Amino acid sequence: MGRLIIISNRLPFSLDREGDKVSLRQSSGGLVSAIKSYFENTGAQRGDLTGKMWIGVADFPQEDWNLVASSNTEGQDFSLEPIFVDTTVYDNYYNGFSNSVLWPLFHYFSSLAEYKNEYFEAYLQVNQLFAEKIIPLLEPGDQVWIHDYQLMILPHLLRQKRPDATIGFFLHIPFPSYEIFRLMPTEWKKALLHGVMGADLIGFHTYDYVQHFLQSVKMLLGVDNYFHNLQYQDRYIKIDLFPIGIDFNKFNQLSTDSEVDTIRNNIRSNLGEKKLIFSVDRLDYTKGLMQRLTGFEYFLERYPEWREKMVFILNIVPSRDSIPAYNDRKKQIEEKIGTINGRYSTISWQPLIYRYNHLPFKDLVALYQAADVALITPLRDGMNLVAKEYVASSLGRGVLILSELAGAASELNEAILVNPTDTSEVASAITRALAMPLYEQRNRISLMQRRLQEYDVFKWVNDFMDQLSTVKQEQQKQKVKILDEKTFTSIRRHYQGASNRCLLLDYDGTLVPFSRIPSEAAPDNAVRDLLTRLCSDEKNHVVIISGRDVSSLDRWLGSLPVTLVAEHGASYRMRNSSWQQLVSVSDLWKDEIRRVMQLFVIRCAGSFIEEKSNTIAWHYRNTQTGLGFSRSRELLNTLSQLIQNTTLQVIDGNKVVEVRIGGFDKGASALKIVNEMDPDFVLCMGDDTTDEDMFKALEGEAYTIKVNNGASAAQYTILSQQQVLPLLNSLIAPLAPERTSNALVENPNH
Ligand code: UDP
Ligand code: G6P
Repeated sequence: MGRLIIISNRLPFSLDREGDKVSLRQSSGGLVSAIKSYFENTGAQRGDLTGKMWIGVADFPQEDWNLVASSNTEGQDFSLEPIFVDTTVYDNYYNGFSNSVLWPLFHYFSSLAEYKNEYFEAYLQVNQLFAEKIIPLLEPGDQVWIHDYQLMILPHLLRQKRPDATIGFFLHIPFPSYEIFRLMPTEWKKALLHGVMGADLIGFHTYDYVQHFLQSVKMLLGVDNYFHNLQYQDRYIKIDLFPIGIDFNKFNQLSTDSEVDTIRNNIRSNLGEKKLIFSVDRLDYTKGLMQRLTGFEYFLERYPEWREKMVFILNIVPSRDSIPAYNDRKKQIEEKIGTINGRYSTISWQPLIYRYNHLPFKDLVALYQAADVALITPLRDGMNLVAKEYVASSLGRGVLILSELAGAASELNEAILVNPTDTSEVASAITRALAMPLYEQRNRISLMQRRLQEYDVFKWVNDFMDQLSTVKQEQQKQKVKILDEKTFTSIRRHYQGASNRCLLLDYDGTLVPFSRIPSEAAPDNAVRDLLTRLCSDEKNHVVIISGRDVSSLDRWLGSLPVTLVAEHGASYRMRNSSWQQLVSVSDLWKDEIRRVMQLFVIRCAGSFIEEKSNTIAWHYRNTQTGLGFSRSRELLNTLSQLIQNTTLQVIDGNKVVEVRIGGFDKGASALKIVNEMDPDFVLCMGDDTTDEDMFKALEGEAYTIKVNNGASAAQYTILSQQQVLPLLNSLIAPLAPERTSNALVENPNH
């Protein structure tokens, strides 16, 4: 490894100014808590880390920074690089696009999103400023890790300037379902996805967020994934889940800290015998504060036996207060608190204690330790670290009530999970928690603690960094190389020395060019002549492996001594033998699919349906470019829903969307033939999505060549279909003296 460079909108410190005095305070929020812990604990860091840097926007003036930079960051072994942004631009970027478009939308508050062009422009501008700051600082070996929704364009901007850089991206908030994501203007959403895809590894907190992201990438960029791996613009990218952890020991070990002890004892002695319910959140509508208060109010009403026997400390941390959606909420919350206290307080008791401030760390942990119940009920939350911190701080008792809509709910199963909008469920969860026997509390807490200890923030960072290195290694291995003269000569040598050769060739787009009307793509004399010559050598076994149906292949190639594989392997005819069909099921499924496809034919001029025995396909090669692509995404989506729980498969091919019976593909067919033949030379060529199955299945067994540029699992690529016949012709021609040019065949497009 080399240096770890963390890039986030927010720096780990904010500045507080009182008159002439400026001091540093840790910034709020889960992102900063997590990464700062990692940076501060040198013992838990990777041994091969040679330096650490944190780059972010300064939310303070340069003069203030100059006052504190040297003194207050002493003893810290990472460097801070603040970026200073013009206040209007920052406002449109931070309060605007980041927190009035992305934040509400990604948390499913779509009605709060304000789609203003100036917001998006400022967002692009600040991402660009980040790129300009970072690029000159980059050194070979650096691992750049970009965090969160404020910087989704940045991975691409860095990639443009540093194609080989190692870049990770992590989203700390939910990635919404496609139906929500698509609400944004097309240009914006494409730019965001394209921007993020500049990274090598993209991380999310939960499996759902990964799925949502992959779905949007497929629908908007037309890129499909293979076990969470994507090929995008010649690069291999991995998308995965990394549920963020906390610094478990930092919280847990404070059980023996005397200062925390004192604070906790003070809190408890003020409470007397009363139980304590506690919550702490930034002031944010996603945190469900109003619903929480309504649930608490209902609890007081419905379970009067608890009145005067408990107190709820509600700590709200100031956040984004210049955005109306936040500020308005503050007023509503304070009114509600007043109403509840006004209604239920007695001379000696007040049910709610409200604090609106930043909590010093030890006060926070003392409150976690003192609380009998933590009431954490966000309406949506990427993860929610407060829930984890409460569990880690526990002295073996306490009950966590957690919203099922927080990312953390998928790891903290022993919490009492509630739907935050269900007032009576929240109220009954509070009574259940207050009355829970101690042994049950202990059991639940210790199970959760074990899990949090196992996957803490150090494992999280190290896991992400390990995967990032693995992706870089994979990229090196998977780099598709243009087939050059030297490699081709060595393939020819191998061919000529081999005695049992297998040549697997795709038909459309490989042996013959694409034709506007599929039924007119008959082989010309040059193709027939080449195949005849290949077959006349008894050491060769030629296999034409195609998505075409039996009758087309039979009509065009049936007279040749070749093996024919039709409909991606559903039927085959071994050379000099008769046709075999692998699948025999009724055709009824096609009626449903045809009905859907016919609708798309009507909605997209120039598209048409092709039917084969085991496949039905919708072609959009001859349609208006943008329209055809966009309709194809809709069709894919519709068909994927329709075929759920069936054995059918939808394939996103080259200008074609196909549905076929599952259970076979070109890869399985190719491998079966190769295994049965046991050849000493295998060459496999193809151009389309379905040929990728062959390239993957034959990895290490064959020379695999992709026709046309683009991402592929093949070892080599040639730039156009016109190069296929010359290449195969020269493969079988006697070896000539080596040429000087490095390119095998000039690209006819240049
Ligand atoms: N926190 C803070 N200042 C406070 C109180 C809490 O920075 O005054 C921390 C808290 O310890 C936690 C983080 O803020 O680590 C909140 O993270 P969470 O994931 O719960 O929510 P977010 O604010 O990131 O949406
Ligand atoms: C969440 C976001 C972070 C953000 C934090 C605090 O955790 O995921 O990116 O830093 O909230 O919000 P703020 O707007 O104050 O940075």
